[in-house]
Amino acid sequence: MAEMLFQITAENLETGMRGYPVGYCTTSTVDPQKGLFYVGKLIDEVAQWAPEEVIYLIYFGKQGNRQEVKAFFADIQKRCHLSKETVQAIYRLPRKGPPMKLFAAALLILGMLEGSGDYREDCLNIIAKAPALVAAVINHHAGWGETPASQPERGYMESFTHMLQVPQGDPTALIPVFRLFNILHYDHGGGNLSTFVGKAVASGLEDMYGSLSSAILALAGPKHGGANQDCLNFVREELKEVGEKATAKDVERSIRKRIANEQLVFGFGHAVLRVEDARATVVYDFVQKTYPNHPLVKIGLLLRTEGSKVLAENPKIQDPHPNIDAISGTMLAVAGFDYPEYFTVLFGLSRIVGIARQIVYERLEARGGKGTPIIRPKYIYKHN
Ligand code: MLT
Repeated sequence: MAEMLFQITAENLETGMRGYPVGYCTTSTVDPQKGLFYVGKLIDEVAQWAPEEVIYLIYFGKQGNRQEVKAFFADIQKRCHLSKETVQAIYRLPRKGPPMKLFAAALLILGMLEGSGDYREDCLNIIAKAPALVAAVINHHAGWGETPASQPERGYMESFTHMLQVPQGDPTALIPVFRLFNILHYDHGGGNLSTFVGKAVASGLEDMYGSLSSAILALAGPKHGGANQDCLNFVREELKEVGEKATAKDVERSIRKRIANEQLVFGFGHAVLRVEDARATVVYDFVQKTYPNHPLVKIGLLLRTEGSKVLAENPKIQDPHPNIDAISGTMLAVAGFDYPEYFTVLFGLSRIVGIARQIVYERLEARGGKGTPIIRPKYIYKHN
């Protein structure tokens, strides 16, 4: 007898499929109480690793020793350059409009000009090429000029930092922050919107790049990856409202005022989590240690405690705790990447790793190698 995992009733319809099991995820899981695990390892442990080690873990489903990671990245490094034709096509795209649309278009261009048509090969290729692709997208969109060639021997995110032409960017401040941000956003279970959309599009046998392009558009919305930029604006507004010398009481008062005025309090709550997002905890610890006196950090930390306290008073709010977006943008801004428009692009640079690997599982490994069938859920007819 098949095990009953979830019984769908009328109450479950039109709820964003919250909690419906629809498949397996081999790369990560999100526990409501403990947070994110990559291949069984808690995020606060892997956050201390190098991006190369974490990508190895996610790609192979096991921790690699130093030699294994080195050999894997020797292969990745060979794949990392973009063709001249790809770069030129990206630089011909219009700069008007949000950069996530440019990112999605750049993925399609890369697929057209450099795609292999093999999901596994393209997974490795996109992991390798994503830093150069994203650097070109941002440099072009921001008007920061040409993108220098990758220097993969510097390291995965070191090479990205070198390619990204951040005005007056200080690599010693940017590199640790880009590395941490990258690691924390690789994957978040199988059901987050961008991953689900990417896998759904691939289930119709669209290639890796088209599937990832759709996933990037799914990530762009303010309810998903776009939230990190809104959260930094919110922290800034709060700083303006309460001032640099604000106490916990001042912040609490200001949050209550916002709620009374029916204004949004950004950065709290999650569809799955019921405690503070473990990724947010890692970032709070980092900013507290690295930038303890920065006014934005001080306000971000006060919002963390006061926001949760005030929101927890409302019994209708299932998760009154901060999520990663509450503080990730503040971390980027205080390190010198104060360009909120590109925060979601950085999220996408990272999430591509997990989505591409999950697509390889569903297309080539699931069901003894047969792959999962085309996504085709049932909708119940209702006369409106
Ligand atoms: C994510 O990282 O994808 C977000 O936390 C959203 C989610 O998990 O649904």
